[in-house]
Amino acid sequence: MLSKVISFALAGLDGIPVEVETDINNGLPAYELVGLPDAAVKESRERVRSALKNSGRKFPAQKITVNLAPADVKKEGSCFDLAIAVGILKATEQLTGADLAGIVFLGELALDGSLRPVTGILPLLISAKAKGYTSFMIPSGNAKEAAYIAGVQVYAAHTLTEVVDHLSKLAPLPALETAKYAGASPQDYNCDLAYVKGQATAKRALEIAVSGGHNILLVGPPGAGKTMLARCIPTIMPSMTFEEALEVTKIHSVAGILSEEGIVSLRPFRTPHHTATTVSLCGGGNRTIKPGEISLAHNGVLFLDEMPEYSRSALESLRQPLEDGVITVTRSGGAVTFPANFMLCASMNPCPCGNYGSADKICTCTPAAIHKYRSRISGPLLDRIDIQVEVDSVKYDDLVSDAKEESSAAVKERVERTRGIQRARFKEGKVRVNADMGEREMHEFCALSRECEEILRLSFDRLKLSARARARIIKVARTIADMEGAEQIAPAHILEAVSYRTYDNFN
Ligand SMILES: Nc1ncnc2c1ncn2[C@@H]1O[C@H](COP(=O)(O)OP(=O)(O)OP(=O)(O)O)[C@@H](O)[C@H]1O
Ligand SMILES: [Mg+2]
Repeated sequence: MLSKVISFALAGLDGIPVEVETDINNGLPAYELVGLPDAAVKESRERVRSALKNSGRKFPAQKITVNLAPADVKKEGSCFDLAIAVGILKATEQLTGADLAGIVFLGELALDGSLRPVTGILPLLISAKAKGYTSFMIPSGNAKEAAYIAGVQVYAAHTLTEVVDHLSKLAPLPALETAKYAGASPQDYNCDLAYVKGQATAKRALEIAVSGGHNILLVGPPGAGKTMLARCIPTIMPSMTFEEALEVTKIHSVAGILSEEGIVSLRPFRTPHHTATTVSLCGGGNRTIKPGEISLAHNGVLFLDEMPEYSRSALESLRQPLEDGVITVTRSGGAVTFPANFMLCASMNPCPCGNYGSADKICTCTPAAIHKYRSRISGPLLDRIDIQVEVDSVKYDDLVSDAKEESSAAVKERVERTRGIQRARFKEGKVRVNADMGEREMHEFCALSRECEEILRLSFDRLKLSARARARIIKVARTIADMEGAEQIAPAHILEAVSYRTYDNFN
């Protein structure tokens, strides 16, 4: 007997339909799995055999051949277990009366016959829906994330027995109800700008950075509050739309780090350790290509605390995704592209001892040591950081003062207004924020007066800026103008933007 069951394989963030063909023949008992399976897929035999037996079904003592088609797509992981088990049941006539046509089966089997959740359910379902599939059988552990997809019928089962009873109409499972996306508010984060005392300059710089999607570097002595400030960035970013949340959830689902809620509604804030390798930052892996930190930070913030401590090669690998907003990971089996549109926030001390430039503390570093420390960040990377701001130590009086600091919610409201201006300006294009502007948009929206040009010329010579730095200054000035609701970029906007470029040639 022959049976055919549909499943899906994951390739990056895409799903590819896989037909599981099962053929049972009289002959010596054997189990043959063909169609480019990896080790985890091959091991399905033991899981499927035990799961069937422990669910009170028969595992035929015949020659079983399972083919995963198309044969040229590499099959990875354990998500075909359920489809294989259902295929064997169908081919051995243990599933009479069940119509399997059009149903996509996904899930890993445990030896006792229960269904284990698998990674990447959300991207698999989205791809499958786009390809016209509307009926799914998945493990109940994946139900929360699957519920966010509207317009499809998803059935979630705890065990293989539940699947069989549903298919043979003994005990039909209810289809999942579509979940409503609620979004997040600043209160959902465990930090708030209101708790950061003083630091007006740094806060202003953060607001500009978030308003226009610019990257930012915080430079200051130890304990000044750099990490604290950085943690507040997601709290002042606009709430994620459902589409943005789905993009992030897809990536987190593939990486297998999705939380209980099933959808990521808080903006990601990723803090890779400074020993991070290029692979852990950009993605890769031996068996399955997994997204790296920069993709996990998609639509959110990548925070590099103590940036000079990161390896040079790891930092350099950020250059291309910082320009493109995507990363293509290539390995022998093919190439996968992951989104990587993140805001970069980096922090560093001004020198190894941390006190260089401090008003009251003495720096004990030699000029050579300072130079060596700072030169660990290459010019081209620094060039891509639009805003560089010094964070001074907080004064004791500021720290204990009762002065009320502005809350994240209030700043977020202003940021949303400024983002609204940008949305209206760029309409439905690839460019979403000022930082994304290309030559064409800059030409159209960043006309400069003679006076502005003159300031730029002087700064260009004095600060020895690059052409890219000049363009980035203009973009920051555009954001500052937008924050004021100004149509034209004024000299004051350019001056403020230039003031955030003081670290360009510090090494
Ligand atoms: N402006 C501030 N308002 C209130 N508390 C602050 C402020 N700055 C620092 N602190 C306190 O100091 C602690 C350390 O701050 P934080 O970790 O942000 O410093 P840092 O600048 O990142 O230091 P390092 O360079 O050592 O990493 C915070 O957890 C907070 O308790
Ligand atoms: Mg810190």
